[in-house]
Amino acid sequence: MSSSKSWLSAAWLLSVGQFLTSPHFAKADNPIVQTLYTSDPAPFVYDDRVYLFTGHDEDGPNDNYNMLDWQLFSSADMANWQYHGSPLSLDAFPWASINAWAGQVIERNDKFYWYVPVSNDDWAFSIGVAVADNITGPYVDAIGEALVAGSEIDPTVFIDDDGQAYLYWGNPGLFYVKLNEDMISYSGEVVEVELTEEGFGSRDDPETPTMYQEGPWLYKRGDLYYMIFAAKCCPENIQYSTGPSATGPWTYGGVIMDSAGTSGTNHVGIVEYKDTPYFFYHNGALPGGGSYTRSVCLESFEYNPDGTFPTLKMTEEGPAQIGALDPYVRQEAETIAWSEGLKTVTGEAGVIFVGKINDGDFIKVKGVAFKEGATKFSASVASEVNGGSIELHLGAVDGKVIGTCAVEVTGGWEKWKTVSCPVEVAADTTDDLFFKFIGDSADDLFNVDWWQFE
Ligand SMILES: *[C@@H]1O[C@H](CO)[C@@H](O)[C@H](O)[C@H]1NC(C)=O
Repeated sequence: MSSSKSWLSAAWLLSVGQFLTSPHFAKADNPIVQTLYTSDPAPFVYDDRVYLFTGHDEDGPNDNYNMLDWQLFSSADMANWQYHGSPLSLDAFPWASINAWAGQVIERNDKFYWYVPVSNDDWAFSIGVAVADNITGPYVDAIGEALVAGSEIDPTVFIDDDGQAYLYWGNPGLFYVKLNEDMISYSGEVVEVELTEEGFGSRDDPETPTMYQEGPWLYKRGDLYYMIFAAKCCPENIQYSTGPSATGPWTYGGVIMDSAGTSGTNHVGIVEYKDTPYFFYHNGALPGGGSYTRSVCLESFEYNPDGTFPTLKMTEEGPAQIGALDPYVRQEAETIAWSEGLKTVTGEAGVIFVGKINDGDFIKVKGVAFKEGATKFSASVASEVNGGSIELHLGAVDGKVIGTCAVEVTGGWEKWKTVSCPVEVAADTTDDLFFKFIGDSADDLFNVDWWQFE
């Protein structure tokens, strides 16, 4: 087997500029995060929400992977995603130095375990494990050293019905260990899976003879175990295999999703939520996007009756929203279906808010149900200088105006004040809500922490 180095240099050859695109996507919901570049989705269903752990490409242009931390988002409707900040970064692992790459989180015994590949300065990778008492973190290094030293990348974790946990990983090999009940140690040797044509298809490349490349994602549905993976580098597509146990033997299933050509890699994460299977992946579809500025996207799908996968396409629309958003409870401003211009910010006190707001920037919140109608809007805002106003529109960013709230200077970027204004929304209105930010200054106008209608 070749080392992962040869694949890495192949990835380096992919020029970012080659794939640069900058279409206007004001109506789309994919990619699902627009405030930063996200990669390597690892969704986990917990407490009636989908938590989405991701990698993070620093804002570009980048001519290689530039990844310092991981990020967390969650949703209860698969359309509006709340940002939870960065619960884990390279700083947590003093024994590693660069490359915060693709990981996965799982819960056991009321603790959350996050398996991640990280490297030293020479790009020699190991797998670390971080732990937290709360799914939103903070996560700390669980053992103070690598869990699997000198490994390849891309850990996926799975707990079988009998309680045995498995950690798989690898590029271009596929390996696993059996984790102990404590989830931070393992028993037995590292097992290398034999990559056969029957198990993983074949491609015309003596160095990587099967379709398998990297990014395994292991789970069980009914009696069938699924090993989904990024295939056929590069650009990669998503393919899969199935088997009768968590250790195979594996039978090759074919291609699930083709590459769009906007990113050299892809990486899959799959969950079932409210009886619907969801398929997370990444591409380079955001403006400025490419192989090193990727973005996580989402599709819903149905399995074929025999358990095989349908062919999936990357879409701009993503899945249908589940239910609607309730405007009468306090909603975090960083709950977003689509935004343009602004950023999400983690403040000094750990408060997460929307900032870097300039004139004309906007946030779309999808499917808001104004059951009894609304007469008043309130928001928590802060501004050291400038201020401005929040225009509330329904249906489109330039749709019907239902109210305008003035935001005055509060004396600090995190000196919060609640402002209110009258609005007019008829009963039984369910529509997309747009916050359009207006101000005279060319600089940052104000920050928004939360909002609520009455
Ligand atoms: C987890 O943290 C969040 C804040 O990020 C908090 O709202 C929630 O109550 C915490 N959950 C538990 C079980 O402590």
